[in-house]
Amino acid sequence: KKRVGILTSGGDCPGLNATIRGVAKALYQRFGEDVTIIGISNGFSGLINGEWREMKPYEFSGILTVGGTILGTKRTPFKLMRVVGEDEVDKVAEMKKNYAAMKLDCLLCLGGNGTHKTANLLAEEGLNIIGLPKTIDNDIYGTDVTFGFHSAVDIATEAIDRVHTTAGSHSRCMLVELMGNKAGWLTLYAGIAGGADIILIPERPYTIEKVCAAIENRAKQGKHFSILAVAEGVYDVKESRMKKKERLAKRKEEGITTATNRIARQIEEMTGFETRTCVPGHTQRGGSPSPYDRVLATQFGSYAAKMVEDGNFGITVAMKNNHVGENKLADIAGKSRLVPDGHGMLEVARRMGISLG
Ligand code: F6P
Repeated sequence: KKRVGILTSGGDCPGLNATIRGVAKALYQRFGEDVTIIGISNGFSGLINGEWREMKPYEFSGILTVGGTILGTKRTPFKLMRVVGEDEVDKVAEMKKNYAAMKLDCLLCLGGNGTHKTANLLAEEGLNIIGLPKTIDNDIYGTDVTFGFHSAVDIATEAIDRVHTTAGSHSRCMLVELMGNKAGWLTLYAGIAGGADIILIPERPYTIEKVCAAIENRAKQGKHFSILAVAEGVYDVKESRMKKKERLAKRKEEGITTATNRIARQIEEMTGFETRTCVPGHTQRGGSPSPYDRVLATQFGSYAAKMVEDGNFGITVAMKNNHVGENKLADIAGKSRLVPDGHGMLEVARRMGISLG
């Protein structure tokens, strides 16, 4: 009889429940009553603290379309895993102890880059681990796509769509600040899908002169409004040469918290266009997964169940050239995937006359 643990860790996203369901249904299909799924609450924090329960098959029904995660999630930074703090808890030892107490054959960890680092650490400690790549940021190394990403693209695109009419009516510049952490995938895709005129991503530090020139060029063509898709992690060319600490100190001095605030102010000063900022924020992580993500989650979840059956551990599921496969955790842990120079989508933007700043 198999005992399979499952946890979700890091920021939530649409498609976590669909993936959990994919794993569970495929496991029950294969093993019937000979498998017990153990749900661990609140990510690695629950694994450290022994928060777990045996789940019943009905708990996985009706969750395909539900956003968030039925297991709960928490960010437990990797750097704290090896630290025995004031609580004197050796977190790695606790996780191993609880894995043994649950009598697990393996543990499935659904999460992003941080989760994969911890998953790899546990694999190195001898536990049987399978990772599943989740994040709206799409920045996990070794997979072409992560579940959650396309749902977020849909939501972000709708935000861009909706500011078009108001920008046009008021002859304004509208900045839509999108999530993505250090990666520009979400902004690049939503920017193209939403018909943004200017797309700014962290991988390509911008100059405000080029941004303003693009806005003024449009005005010369009779287009008295502009839509900017701005990734939350962007910086200008000068900032890109600074260390994070220095950059934050400079922004504090300027009285701004994000680059978007500064860009908006500079556009008003330099072009005279009235400018507004819109921040969809966590709406990009909320709600029901898109059909694309439901399919992807089901592909990934059922593949993970097959890996349980095959006893193939120390891996994470991945999409490579439209085929579901896997990577060794050791090969991807600690890496991330940013938009590379010359990426096809950057070329598309260029050909379409979208300014990349
Ligand atoms: O990694 C997902 C993400 O939504 C990033 O895009 C964003 O920078 C971050 O998480 C926000 O984190 P939190 O929900 O903890 O504020």
